[in-house]
Amino acid sequence: EDEKDLVPRPPVVCVMGHVDHGKTSLLDAIRKTNVTAKEAGGITQHIGAYTVDVKGQQITFLDTPGHEAFTAMRMRGAQSTDIAILVVAADDGVMPQTVEAINHAKAAEVEIIVAINKIDKPSANIDRVKQELAEYELIPEDWGGSTIFVPVSAHTKEGIPELLEMILLASEVKELKANPNRRARGLVIEAELDKGRGPVATILVQKGTLRIGDNVTAGPCYGKVRAMMDDKGRRVKEAGPSMPVEILGLNDVPGAGDVLMATENEKEARGMAETFVAESKNKLLEETKS
Ligand code: GTP
Ligand code: NA
Ligand code: MG
Repeated sequence: EDEKDLVPRPPVVCVMGHVDHGKTSLLDAIRKTNVTAKEAGGITQHIGAYTVDVKGQQITFLDTPGHEAFTAMRMRGAQSTDIAILVVAADDGVMPQTVEAINHAKAAEVEIIVAINKIDKPSANIDRVKQELAEYELIPEDWGGSTIFVPVSAHTKEGIPELLEMILLASEVKELKANPNRRARGLVIEAELDKGRGPVATILVQKGTLRIGDNVTAGPCYGKVRAMMDDKGRRVKEAGPSMPVEILGLNDVPGAGDVLMATENEKEARGMAETFVAESKNKLLEETKS
C-alpha cells in the first residue's frame, strides 16, 4: 500500500472479559442504549459491532460474549481489533475468561486497556483487581507499569468519559490509517440466514470502500451487495474503513471470520468462492489422512 493513499481511520476496539462483568452494560452506557435488556437470559451470544461518535471522532466497538462457550468469538474479536478493553468486575476480580481474553489479546499483539467495572458496588475492591492482573503482566502506571487502568461504573457512568479519553489517546499514538480508495476488504463478524431477507452478513470493512452493487466474495460465498445497513439499521450506500455494516446479496451464509473482498466482476467473485471451497475440501482430506 502506498503511504500517500492512506488516510486516518477510526480505531476498532474489542470489549472482552468474563461473563457478566458488564461488557454490554458498559457499551450501553457509552451508546446510551439498552441492548442488555433485550438479551436472552442476559447472556451475549454474538459479536455486536457499533460505531460511536466521541467529540467528533469515531470509535468502532466490538462486543464479545464472556460465556466460556464462546472462545472462538473472543479470539476473532481480538484478531480484528486495534485495542482491547478488558472489563473486570471490581467485586469479582480475575476469572477464567478474563485470563483467556488476556491470552487472546496478547497472541494478537493488541494493546489492552483495563476497565475495572462495577465500582459503585459496596464490595468493589479496585486494589485487589490490580494485584490479580499484575500476575498477568498488566501493571498500572501508578505501580510503575505501562497498562492503562480506568475504574468505571456502567450503572452510575462514573469513569466513562475517562475511558473514552484513554481509548482516543491510545489510538492517536497508533496513527491508524487505511486506503478508502480501493476495492473493499473486510471480515465477516457474524452471519445468518434471515427468513425474509436471505443471507445477512455483518462485515467490518478494513480497507477500501464497500458499495451497493459491488461484486463480493466471502469465504465459500459470493454475490452482489444488494443493500447495506449501518449499526442503527439505517440504509447506507457505502461503508469505509473500520465501519461495520450488514449486507444483503450473498448466495449463502459465510462463516464468521471469513474474509470479504470486493472483486472486479461476478466471474472473479464466483471463482474465488469456488477456490475457497476446493481448498477447504483439500485441507479436510489431508487432515483425515494424517
Ligand atoms: P456477557 O456478555 O453475558 O458475558 O455479560 P456482560 O459482560 O456483557 O455483562 P452484562 O452487561 O450483561 O451485565 C451483567 C450484570 O451486571 C447485569 O445484571 C448488569 O446490570 C450488571 N452490571 C453491569 N455493569 C454494572 C455496574 O457498573 N454496576 C453494577 N452494580 N452492576 C453492573
Ligand atoms: Na451478561
Ligand atoms: Mg454481554
